[in-house]
Amino acid sequence: MKMKLLALLFGSALVLAACGGDDNAGEDTDTGNNDTGTEQPADDENAGGDTGAVDTAAAEKIYQNNCSMCHGADLSGGAGKDLREIGAKYNQEQLVDIIHNGIGGMQGINISDEDANTVAAWLATKK
Ligand code: HEC
Repeated sequence: MKMKLLALLFGSALVLAACGGDDNAGEDTDTGNNDTGTEQPADDENAGGDTGAVDTAAAEKIYQNNCSMCHGADLSGGAGKDLREIGAKYNQEQLVDIIHNGIGGMQGINISDEDANTVAAWLATKK
């Protein structure tokens, strides 16, 4: 029983750690990174290469910080639209464009190209 609880706690600590796993990429000169300093890079060595595979942990962090207040923590929408199947409507490139330039009643979101790419790649898989 107790072990199970510990495992659970440890598990969530790992998830949190994974979210900060991009520290080693050395790219972010912008202020968007709210590093707490407590996380460790876990074992995701792919964090440096930002083409190809979707960095889900990083994307979710960017989403929670910049989009969730309007689109819902679970993508289900709110002030903004439901994004749960947004990948069926727009590809990554179009999503980057929407993030930077806005669409309809949504203003452009002021995040770096890299962050926009990361979150767009992730959203493009939602279909
Ligand atoms: C201030 C609130 C707000 C924030 C923050 C916001 N959005 Fe939006 N978003 C909206 C609204 C409102 C719409 C609907 C615009 C319209 O169609 O008139 C929208 C529409 C969209 C659409 C198009 C949806 C569709 O079905 O056509 C996408 C994609 C989108 N947002 C992605 C994002 C992403 C990604 C972020 C974070 C980087 C973000 N939004 C942040 C309010 C927001």
